[in-house]
Amino acid sequence: MNLSIVILAAGKGSRMKSNTAKVLHPISGKEMLYFIIKESLKISNDITVVIHHQKEAVQEAMMKHFGNKINFLVQDADNFPGTGGAVMGIRPQHEKVLVLNGDMPLITAQALKGFEDSKADITMSIFDLEDSSGYGRVIIGDSGVERIVEEKDASDEEKKVSTVNAGIYSFSKAVIQKYLPLLSNDNAQAEYYLTDLISMAKKDGLEIEPLLVDEEHFKGVNSKFDLATAEEIMQGRIKEAWMKSGISMQLPSTIYIEEGVTFNGESILENGVRLCGNTLIEDSHIKSGSVIEDSIIKNSDIGPLAHIRPHSHIQDTHIGNFVEVKKSTLKGVKAGHLAYLGDSQIEEGTNVGAGVITCNYDGKAKYQTIIGKNVFIGSDTQLVAPLIIEDDVIIAAGTTVTAGKLEKGSLSVSRAPLKSVAGFYYKFFGKK
Ligand code: UD1
Ligand code: CA
Repeated sequence: MNLSIVILAAGKGSRMKSNTAKVLHPISGKEMLYFIIKESLKISNDITVVIHHQKEAVQEAMMKHFGNKINFLVQDADNFPGTGGAVMGIRPQHEKVLVLNGDMPLITAQALKGFEDSKADITMSIFDLEDSSGYGRVIIGDSGVERIVEEKDASDEEKKVSTVNAGIYSFSKAVIQKYLPLLSNDNAQAEYYLTDLISMAKKDGLEIEPLLVDEEHFKGVNSKFDLATAEEIMQGRIKEAWMKSGISMQLPSTIYIEEGVTFNGESILENGVRLCGNTLIEDSHIKSGSVIEDSIIKNSDIGPLAHIRPHSHIQDTHIGNFVEVKKSTLKGVKAGHLAYLGDSQIEEGTNVGAGVITCNYDGKAKYQTIIGKNVFIGSDTQLVAPLIIEDDVIIAAGTTVTAGKLEKGSLSVSRAPLKSVAGFYYKFFGKK
C-alpha cells in the first residue's frame, strides 16, 4: 500500500439539478462516494476526500461509514475553483498519488491496478467514445499525449476528437509539488484545471502514460440519467455476485438488492422483489412483489406482495400476501393474509388470521403486543396495545381485544349479538 489516494468531491454538480450534493446521490442504497472510498481502502491507507459544497453533509455521511479511516480536506474553492484547486492543499504520505473523482461510483480496486503498476511520472485514463461531449479531449501527437483540452475551451476541430480523459490519474508526488503552484486559471471557466499538469509535464519531457480503460468502470455520473445508468450496472454486479454464491433469482432484471443486504445458505427470490438496508436472508423463499427493509429473515417464506419493514426478525415463519410487519419478532408463526403486525413479539405455533391488526399507536405513542405460543387469533381481530397474550389462547373472529392481558388457556370474544330478521329481503326488494 504505497499509494496515496485523493478523491475529488467538492464540486456542486449543477447538472444533477438537485439540492443534494452530487456525491451523496444514492446508488443501490448507498451514496456514490461510499463506493469509491470502499474500493480505495482496498489499495491505500492514505485517503483524502476533498470537500467544499455541502461539506458538513458529505463529511458526516462518510464518517458514518468509515470513521477515522479517511481524511477530509476543505477546498478553498472561492479562490481556487476547479479540479486543480481541489488538489492544492493535499499532503500525501506516499510517493505516488492517485486522483479519483467522487462522481465515479463504478470504479473498483481491480480496475485501478494499471495505475498501481505504472512507473510513469503521470498515468492518465483515456477511452474512446462515439459521443465525447462533456469530456476533456485528449490531444495526441507524434510523441504521445500532449495535452487535455476541456470542451468549453476546445476548437471545433478539437471537439471532434473521440479520445477523452476518463478523469482518473496517478502522479508522482514530485510532479504535484512542482507543477501545482504553476497552474493558472486562464481558460473559459476561469478554473484551475488539474488536467493542465499534463501539458506542463510534457513540455519538460516527463513520461506520460495513457491507460486505455473501459467505460463500465470509469463512467462519470453528471446527470440523473447517468445516475440511473450507473444504478443498473451496480445492480447487475450485486445480483451476479449473489447468484454465484447460490441464490436463485427469477427474472433478475426485475429484482432490486441494495449494497448491505446479505444472504446465508440457499434462497429463492421471485420477480419484483426489493431488498433494502442491512437485510439478512437465510434459507428463505421471497415471493413476487415483496419488499423487505433492514430485517432478518431465516428459514421462512414471505409474500407474494408482503412488506417487511425495519427491525423485524422473522424465523421459521409463513407470511402470506398483503401482510405488513414492522419492528416485530416472529418465530414459528403463520400469518397468511391481510394483516398488520407492528411492535410485536409472537411465539411459535401461533396462527394469525386474515385481517388481524395490532393497534400499536394511540395517536401519541407506540405500544407493544406480546403474544405467546399456540395462540389462535381469529380473522378480523383488533389487538389494542399494550397487550400481553399468554400461551394457548383462542380469540374469536371479529374480536376487539382491549383487556391488556389475556390469561393462558382462555377464550376471548367481543361481538355485538347477531340479529336475524326472517323474510326481510323480500319485504325490502319486493317478492320475486
Ligand atoms: C473533468 C475533467 C475532464 C474529464 C472529466 C471526466 C478537469 C478540468 N476536467 O471534467 O477532462 O473528461 O472530468 O469525468 O479536470 N471537483 C472538485 N472541486 C472543484 C471542481 C470539481 O472537487 O472545484 C470535483 C467534483 O466534485 C467531481 C470531480 O472533481 O467529483 C470532477 O469535476 P467535474 O465538474 O465533474 O469535472 P468535469 O467537468 O466532468
Ligand atoms: Ca464529471
